Amino acid sequence: MCGIVGYVGGRQALDLAVDALRRMEYRGYDSAGIALVGTDENGESFLKAVKRTGKLANLEDKIAEVGAETLTGSTAIGHTRWATHGRPTDENAHPHVSFDNKVAVVHNGIIENFAPLRAELEAEGITLQSDTDTEVATHLLALAYNDGDTAGDFRASALKVLNRLEGAFTVLFTHADHPDQIIAARRSTPLIVGVGEGEMFLGSDVAAFIEHTKNAVELGQDNVVIITRDDYEILNFDGTAAEGRPFTIDWDLEAAEKGGFDSFMMKEIHEQPAAVRDTLAGHFEDGRVILDESNLSQSDLKSFNQVFVVACGSAYHSGLLAKYAIEHWVRIPVQIEVASEFRYRDPVLDERTLVLAISQSGETADTLEAVRHAKSQGAKVLAVCNTNGSQIPRESDAVLYTHAGPEIGVASTKAFLAQVVANYIVGLALAQAKGTKYPDEISDIWASLEEIPGKVEEVLASQEEVGKLTSALGAVPTMLFLGRGVGFPVALEGALKLKELAYIHAEGFAAGELKHGPIALIEDGLPVVVVVPSPHGVKQLHSKIVSNIQEIRARGAKTIVIAEEGDTAVEPYANWLIRIPATPSIMQPLLATVPLQFLAADIARECGNEDIDKPRNLAKSVTVE
Ligand code: M6R
Repeated sequence: MCGIVGYVGGRQALDLAVDALRRMEYRGYDSAGIALVGTDENGESFLKAVKRTGKLANLEDKIAEVGAETLTGSTAIGHTRWATHGRPTDENAHPHVSFDNKVAVVHNGIIENFAPLRAELEAEGITLQSDTDTEVATHLLALAYNDGDTAGDFRASALKVLNRLEGAFTVLFTHADHPDQIIAARRSTPLIVGVGEGEMFLGSDVAAFIEHTKNAVELGQDNVVIITRDDYEILNFDGTAAEGRPFTIDWDLEAAEKGGFDSFMMKEIHEQPAAVRDTLAGHFEDGRVILDESNLSQSDLKSFNQVFVVACGSAYHSGLLAKYAIEHWVRIPVQIEVASEFRYRDPVLDERTLVLAISQSGETADTLEAVRHAKSQGAKVLAVCNTNGSQIPRESDAVLYTHAGPEIGVASTKAFLAQVVANYIVGLALAQAKGTKYPDEISDIWASLEEIPGKVEEVLASQEEVGKLTSALGAVPTMLFLGRGVGFPVALEGALKLKELAYIHAEGFAAGELKHGPIALIEDGLPVVVVVPSPHGVKQLHSKIVSNIQEIRARGAKTIVIAEEGDTAVEPYANWLIRIPATPSIMQPLLATVPLQFLAADIARECGNEDIDKPRNLAKSVTVE
């Protein structure tokens, strides 16, 4: 939540910061702003800040109004905001500038003790300009620099302030008297250093600077970093030296750009075959499933007698599918819980419990806290994550990376499919270790997984079909999604996509629950999506859902039916029929989800929401609880 960028180097920092913010905008777009520091021709140091509410385009307009030529400086910090404290207004936009106009601060996270700090500043006679928690850090830094034992010492002042902040935060500090450096810190929220030649970068993630360097350094928890043009220095909050983890970024700029599609989301939907293929790669050799065995041994896997899945949003829906697969293949109970609820009750966990923590970003605060709680109870945590080096895998016992590549669209698409695949890999590894499936059965399931990328390619061709159906549907105030068995999580995921992209009411139900209440919602013309199980799977499921379709049609619903090729039984009951290739039932969600992604995007556009990458009120990484 909130994107942060920083630059110290020899180039015009304004342009670099705007470009970097463009790549960070998926993390929040309530406002954007940049502060520049430098030295003018008379040797006088200056600090200039420009910020505006709304998307980055608004900031660019403001820069044009002010005149880009006036915003010089070779050091910059920038921010794109997802509002937590204070409404999205110009005043609440970052950077915040101190009372003496010397310090600028950008921040991601929450300063939990901001209220007493604010009161302290007000008692000193400082008038705060915004409602944010961030602004307190700005004035505290100016006070520390101006007076007392840290006077004139930027580093000591920054450390003094950082040690007073509570909560989870990434902050970047600049000071007009030190135009050649940025001091930054992280606690529980992300910050990566980009190491260039004669220039250094900071970003909430590597997309901020991938265009300029592939050399990056990951900071540890509670680390401070001081960057100058030629160097970076990492410290602990007490000022002692600390070490980062240097790594080479293995994606390129193209992966973070739209590649000819009109939105990241559309690009990412089309990248799903590759996301599945790349996630499977390297996990099956010589007839055996390979997990992250460096940290989770065969005897660990064998010892687990229950699994807990914790995740949020789409990741949670992928976790529901983990439950179906693991219980079926491994015959041990799997419980699943939204991560935000998990630690507030008292789940029964012990050292024989495997906790599967699923997160695309690896930053989701609720999931991270669930991981911490699980570990404190002695459970082993396996993270399924798409972001190398992020906090959730760092704090987990083992990790299985999904290789979906960067997902920029706020609505999860390719990461969801990759999560389902990763969850199935975990299920197969458990079945193998516990001997609940014979090797040839595991090989057969693996072979079906390997067919999925090709089948997803076929489903991508349904885009046009879905487009026609959307135009025929016209304006829809609400929509229901029904599924049975593994189709139920697909129904939930389809409804979530529609809510977040089109802002219309949508709900997913287990079709069997219909008659227990939701059927009262059915009225003439109501569009209902029905995910039909394979007729070759559990027979009763197919015939039962066919009955459900008839029940809702009898009450006026218009049915949009997703069904396997060759399933002729559903034809008479579908107002619109979208075909997906035949596949074993457990694999069907990997195909049936795809038309629902198109449907949500198309309806969103019909509703006039052109920017499907950045739905209102949302952010890609939810780093606050
Ligand atoms: O990064 P994570 O996978 O932990 O994120 C979890 C959810 O916030 C995420 O899946 C969210 O629900 C998506 N916007 C759904 O499209």
